[in-house]
Amino acid sequence: MNNRPIGIFDSGVGGLSILDSVKKHLPNESYVYLADQKNYPYGGKSVVEIQEIAYKVVSFLVSKKVKLVIIACNTVSVNAIKHLRSNFDIPIIAVVPVVKTISEKSKTKKAAVFTTPATAKSKYLKDLIKKFSNGTKIYTIGNSKLEHLVEEGIVNGPTVRSTVENSLLTLIEDGVDSIALGCTHYPFVATEIKKILGSKIALYDSGGAIARRTEYVLAHENIPSSVKGEDYYYTTGDAVRFRQIAEKLMKLDLKNVTGVKI
Ligand code: DGL
Repeated sequence: MNNRPIGIFDSGVGGLSILDSVKKHLPNESYVYLADQKNYPYGGKSVVEIQEIAYKVVSFLVSKKVKLVIIACNTVSVNAIKHLRSNFDIPIIAVVPVVKTISEKSKTKKAAVFTTPATAKSKYLKDLIKKFSNGTKIYTIGNSKLEHLVEEGIVNGPTVRSTVENSLLTLIEDGVDSIALGCTHYPFVATEIKKILGSKIALYDSGGAIARRTEYVLAHENIPSSVKGEDYYYTTGDAVRFRQIAEKLMKLDLKNVTGVKI
């Protein structure tokens, strides 16, 4: 048993979609969430920049005595996971697009991964597709606008719709029937995406898989919590704004929100 918290981070509010799934699955754990909004967005940065920033973020979480880190950001996972694992001793779990799931689920044998530009062009994602596509054609769609809307707390309405339409409508014509949400901001606009794409296209996010993986690693390392403690939220940006948007997205009141420099 180990009652220390789990650390979890993203460039902004997107990782809260992962936190939500993990918290529901593991209610006995305590969480320290960091939104690195000063450095947001990660999606347009170089690999080296992403690695340097991620190192600082994980160092901050380690200073909060976390027992495990969840990278709740696909962009960091695909560009910096090896770098982070070689620099830190604690277990690190990384969110990546569910390529295997969409390949297996697709009946038309056409599927797509919807991500930030940095994830779309990463070698890691290309390798993941090579390894798991198994005869399914996988399209990668990079978008640099949708996450900004979510970051501002905008999850429906005309701008969200036109952004989704511009990126995804051609996939319907191409016969795609399964889409992986490969950016943790996107689950917050899943309802809007479903309205546009209709019932013939299924969406898959990584929340459930990460929650189960976290449970497995805690058990394997013999470090699950016996007592639920407080959760803490930090941002390198504006704490008042973060709290306002996070509460809207999570549909709950947040305590313990603090602005920090890392
Ligand atoms: N939420 C992040 C992801 O899953 C991307 C946000 C950003 O570009 O900073 O990739």
